[in-house]
Amino acid sequence: LPRHLADRSIVLVGIMGAGKTAVGKRLAATLGLTFIDADQEIETASGYTVSEIFERFGEPAFRDVERRVIRRLLEGPRIVLATGGGAFMDPATRTVIRDKGLSIWIRAPLPLLLRRVAGRTHRPLLMSGDPGTILQGLMKLRHPIYAEADIVIDSRDETVDAMATRMAETV
Ligand code: S3P
Repeated sequence: LPRHLADRSIVLVGIMGAGKTAVGKRLAATLGLTFIDADQEIETASGYTVSEIFERFGEPAFRDVERRVIRRLLEGPRIVLATGGGAFMDPATRTVIRDKGLSIWIRAPLPLLLRRVAGRTHRPLLMSGDPGTILQGLMKLRHPIYAEADIVIDSRDETVDAMATRMAETV
């Protein structure tokens, strides 16, 4: 790991269902750091759920709030930060993450993602059609950009603990 990245907050990126929140919590516990979920933080700060922000104000407004929240968090003490799947796709937010964080892409195959997000209604992007088709489209668009993260870790069929341990050994 490049030396200049070693003290930075760890920023987990990747598509919804990849395990950013679950693994992030374990990783933070392992490293003795605070865990923060960006979507959760946005909900607390705004008083709206992510779905409500999408519905009432639209995705561009959500991306603005998301960027400001992530920037503020990365200017504070070292944490493990799970970001929403679209955060790293926004060029300005990606710049913030690349300048201030150590980014890890949790790469996960479609069947695993589908199993994790099946039946969930709190993900506005999956509500407009068949989740498999939507996820496949998102993966095609997003993977080349997630690949710009500092580190890539593959999500396998393993426990959250096992994956967090692997990650802790990498950072
Ligand atoms: C989004 C992913 C969601 C949430 C919002 C948009 C995306 O976060 O930020 O629904 O664009 O992929 P998760 O990746 O935590 O589901």
